[in-house]
Amino acid sequence: MELAGKVVVVTGGGSGIGEACSRRFAAAGAKVVVVDQHADRVSAVVAAITATGGSASGTAADIRLESGTVGAIAHARSAFGPVDLFFANAGIGVNGGEEVPDEDWLRIWEINLMAHVHAARALIPEWLERGSGYLVTTASAAALLTTLGSAPYAVTKSAALSFAEWISITYGDRGIGVSCLCPQGVVTRMTMGEDLLGAHSGEAGIAQLLAGGAMLQPADVAEVVYQTIVAERFLILPHPEVATYFQRKAADYDRWLAGMRRLRAQTTAEGI
Ligand SMILES: NC(=O)c1ccc[n+]([C@@H]2O[C@H](COP(=O)([O-])OP(=O)(O)OC[C@H]3O[C@@H](n4cnc5c(N)ncnc54)[C@H](O)[C@@H]3O)[C@@H](O)[C@H]2O)c1
Repeated sequence: MELAGKVVVVTGGGSGIGEACSRRFAAAGAKVVVVDQHADRVSAVVAAITATGGSASGTAADIRLESGTVGAIAHARSAFGPVDLFFANAGIGVNGGEEVPDEDWLRIWEINLMAHVHAARALIPEWLERGSGYLVTTASAAALLTTLGSAPYAVTKSAALSFAEWISITYGDRGIGVSCLCPQGVVTRMTMGEDLLGAHSGEAGIAQLLAGGAMLQPADVAEVVYQTIVAERFLILPHPEVATYFQRKAADYDRWLAGMRRLRAQTTAEGI
């Protein structure tokens, strides 16, 4: 999808990947609606875009609630018109495994997956009627591989990828495009430990979230996101080597599991 003149909503648009994508989409001529739970971040990104001649509006919303997503879409409609592309990007991390309390499992499930369901529920009927629309979601390389040290993150990101696949298969022949972003490490507030929930947030969270791979800057990721949307390809892989790891996993699951156990033992021994 070419983005010039399109109405694009970006959740988590106040920071990191969402901020960089908001700027990139605006530079391509999109009318961008920046959505974040932090009003100050929303205002800063909108101001930066408009200062460079771009078109942007913003709204503070908690997309953990369905009303947050519905309200953001209503804001976009009144600011610029019907939404052409919705980027469900906001996400959080929670470190730990089966011992993580239910309330934290529920919170990450609602933000990392259910917000995508809510966006699809709100927009797919009108997109089917119009014969076009585009859903982009942010999962993670964790969806294709795993995340050492964080079961809630790995599980919810796998679910997000699965949902994006399902939407693409179900509606892809009726004018609806879908792409799913699956990066490894990107330098953002999340990887710096600022917005990571859980007992082991901070430095430990950084390495555990990444499980290897070069750290990219958000602007580099935004460029790959933009190019992949224009090309209308499903998987957005800013770290292309993830495709190779995924092929190896599919080719021999037990060998892959053994390799991941070795990696886990190594990172534990190094105190990461
Ligand atoms: N940084 C990485 O290494 C990395 C790797 C793979 C995937 N991701 C994913 O990329 C996405 C963006 O993360 P980021 O790294 O840019 O982090 P970030 O913390 O810089 O940005 C995330 C933004 O989402 C917002 N947000 C979180 N919960 C929200 C809610 N309930 N309602 C509204 N806004 C909310 C935060 O306020 C924040 O501004 C996430 O889904 C994350 O899981 C990040």
